[in-house]
Amino acid sequence: MNDIFILGIETSCDETSASIVKNGREVISNVISSQVDLHKKYGGVVPEIASRKHVELIIPVINQALEEADLALEELDGIAVTYGPGLVGALLVGVSAAKALAFTVDKPLIGVNHIEGHIAANYIQHKELEPPFVCLVVSGGHSHIVYVKDYGEYEIVGRTRDDAAGEAFDKVARALGMGYPGGPLIDKAAKLGNPEAVNFPRVYFEKGNLDFSFSGIKTAVLNYINVQNQKGEGYKIEDICASFQRAVVEVLVNNLISAAKLKGTSKVALAGGVAANSCLRSEFMKASQDNNFKAYYPSPILCTDNAAMIACSAYYRLTKGQVSDLHLNAVPALKLGEK
Ligand code: KG4
Ligand code: ZN
Repeated sequence: MNDIFILGIETSCDETSASIVKNGREVISNVISSQVDLHKKYGGVVPEIASRKHVELIIPVINQALEEADLALEELDGIAVTYGPGLVGALLVGVSAAKALAFTVDKPLIGVNHIEGHIAANYIQHKELEPPFVCLVVSGGHSHIVYVKDYGEYEIVGRTRDDAAGEAFDKVARALGMGYPGGPLIDKAAKLGNPEAVNFPRVYFEKGNLDFSFSGIKTAVLNYINVQNQKGEGYKIEDICASFQRAVVEVLVNNLISAAKLKGTSKVALAGGVAANSCLRSEFMKASQDNNFKAYYPSPILCTDNAAMIACSAYYRLTKGQVSDLHLNAVPALKLGEK
């Protein structure tokens, strides 16, 4: 059988990325150009700045991915791109580039859902992993528990009703004056703090419902800071970080384990930027061992946004004949499993 090489393109938020993946799971190149320094001073991603920067970077990043793989466009078997969910202006840059390239070299165009891509990062990391399994997808924009029935077949078992987990990390870090993005900074500070110092709320819904809600904990942190300031007692940032992180992680892991039991699977996975969190990883491993589950998570570079995960997803779409045509458009609020 001939090898299949797919170029993946990812521009849904503030990372411009292009990658070549061989036969679905072997990363040949994965170029990621982060704009994080540009957005830092605004405390979050500024959509218009992101789109403009993608326009500047997209061609050099794609060229570098091809060069590192020592491949010409003509040698590719498909061109894959994230078409949603994400920032519309940012998505459009990747979608336009992918369409132009696919048209020029007459190769299949494969539109990929960004969340599906995050889940697929696990296939790259763990060559033996096959569906079915349950995956917790936690990023800056999403918090879902997904039952992966088969390649490309998903059932959402739980989702956030308000803020995404990553959003909560970013907002709490902002309130503590720590900078952006907050997740990695809280992760680091929490290592020096006491997770039992403050008892922040854990939100669970009625039995059998595995949804999340993180807006309450964000407010609880803000209230705690204000009250401590008013009392003139102050607070230790590291303790707040550790206590906040412990509360969020506890709910994420408990609901994930319940979802696996509900679906009758013993394989569980993490995905998305927050899956890089060290506390989440260790609590997830502990809970998986306690339940005799097989546990999977990608390396940190494959947790945050990257194009290798998009090329990997596209491989499974391509082998099922699920290709897009040149009418492919950016869909900012694209749902998982939606065509
Ligand atoms: O998946 P991603 O790169 O972009 C989206 O699709 O949103 O995720 C970015 C999010 C940010 O909210 C960031 O704070 C969070 O992932 N994040 C972390 C860590 N590393 C990144 N959150 C907690 N702990 C980390 N180590
Ligand atoms: Zn993402």
